[in-house]
Amino acid sequence: MARLDLGYIDMYLIHAPWPWEEFGADYRVQNRTVWEQMESFYTSKKVRAIGISNFNVRDQEDLYAHAKIKPMALQLQYYIGFTEDDNVKCAQDNGLLVEAFSPLATGFLLNNDAVKAVAGHYNTGVAQVAIRYVLQKGLLPLPKATSPAHIKANTELSFTINDEDMKTLDQLKDTAPGEDNNRY
Ligand SMILES: NC(=O)c1ccc[n+]([C@@H]2O[C@H](COP(=O)([O-])OP(=O)(O)OC[C@H]3O[C@@H](n4cnc5c(N)ncnc54)[C@H](OP(=O)(O)O)[C@@H]3O)[C@@H](O)[C@H]2O)c1
Repeated sequence: MARLDLGYIDMYLIHAPWPWEEFGADYRVQNRTVWEQMESFYTSKKVRAIGISNFNVRDQEDLYAHAKIKPMALQLQYYIGFTEDDNVKCAQDNGLLVEAFSPLATGFLLNNDAVKAVAGHYNTGVAQVAIRYVLQKGLLPLPKATSPAHIKANTELSFTINDEDMKTLDQLKDTAPGEDNNRY
């Protein structure tokens, strides 16, 4: 906290339920201990919300069964064509806000012709359709942009993707070749 020079932190997450070099390994027991620390950060009021990231159903269910304070948010990779439905449902059924990181597939989605065609129906761009799609799915999108023009464009979301176009987007596969999915 001293090094961040902040009075409090808005949200603090466990980045992943396993060490990154052991992707997918079973660390359920260790996560219970880590979570006790997260709970103490929250009760100290130095952190306003605590949550998890990249937790699959196995790891989520174990944590929810043992937590005194449930995580408030799950952050996972989510974009048109890669939606982690089981992990999202598990979190939403347990009352968590689900945040979609990389909703533009780190940029790899931007050249997708099928999404471009849908964007044309609303006179907007692929990025806006990708972000709007996430919102209409009931998730909070977490796009990142360094260009001021992109930052502004990503707030221009006052249109609604109709049911037919949502179905088209739901059926798209392999929308972002090159993106390194967290497949676990
Ligand atoms: N929890 C986790 O494990 C995890 C993992 C990965 C990422 N994240 C977080 O998720 C957030 C977003 O992730 P991300 O950077 O991978 O992906 P992203 O938001 O899907 O894509 C970012 C890329 O899209 C471009 N972009 C943004 N808006 C655009 C627009 N309107 N038109 C055209 N291009 C646009 C950006 O370009 P410019 O920069 O040039 O604007 C950048 O190259 C980050 O805050 C990151 O920390 C979390």
